[in-house]
Amino acid sequence: MKVLIVYYTKYGNTEKVAKLIAEGITSVEGNEVIVKFVKDVKLKEAASCDLILFGSPVHFGRHVGAIKKFINKIPNSQLKVNTYAVFDTYILTDFEKGVKSMEQQVSEVMPDLTKASSGLSIKVEGTGMSKGPITSVDLPKCKEFGIKLAQK
Ligand SMILES: Cc1cc2nc3c(=O)[nH]c(=O)nc-3n(C[C@H](O)[C@H](O)[C@H](O)COP(=O)(O)O)c2cc1C
Repeated sequence: MKVLIVYYTKYGNTEKVAKLIAEGITSVEGNEVIVKFVKDVKLKEAASCDLILFGSPVHFGRHVGAIKKFINKIPNSQLKVNTYAVFDTYILTDFEKGVKSMEQQVSEVMPDLTKASSGLSIKVEGTGMSKGPITSVDLPKCKEFGIKLAQK
């Protein structure tokens, strides 16, 4: 399975989640993963993949504008994908707010794209515009999520 993981990060936590998910996916034989910061993805050069993952921190109760813009551009690009899944990072009580807003957007922009799995929402420590780190309870969930995706 060919997988593309596209993430945004301000302080590095969502990037860490993306890399741990990638580690989980590649730990299962026969999988290939590319992990990219959203602003480094060249849609003109992108070809096809079996699964795309979108990852975003929760900012103001939803996913960030850079990921939103990226999702909007996919239908008119060279990038061909079959399935998707999403992940977010959040603080306090905003569990799955980014997951839900990304899934909502993807279902509107690409109604034919199949959801490979329910989303992953990872809590980071702190309050306000928190720099994390990822809570110790949620840290192991990242690689596990990748392994489960790879076994589907
Ligand atoms: C401008 C800004 C707005 C934020 N708004 C929220 C929010 O509404 N809900 C929430 O749970 N976390 C919020 N946060 C905390 C982020 O979720 C947290 O900084 C992020 O998960 C860390 O991920 P990163 O290291 O990948 O940037 C906000 C952070 C910033 C910088």
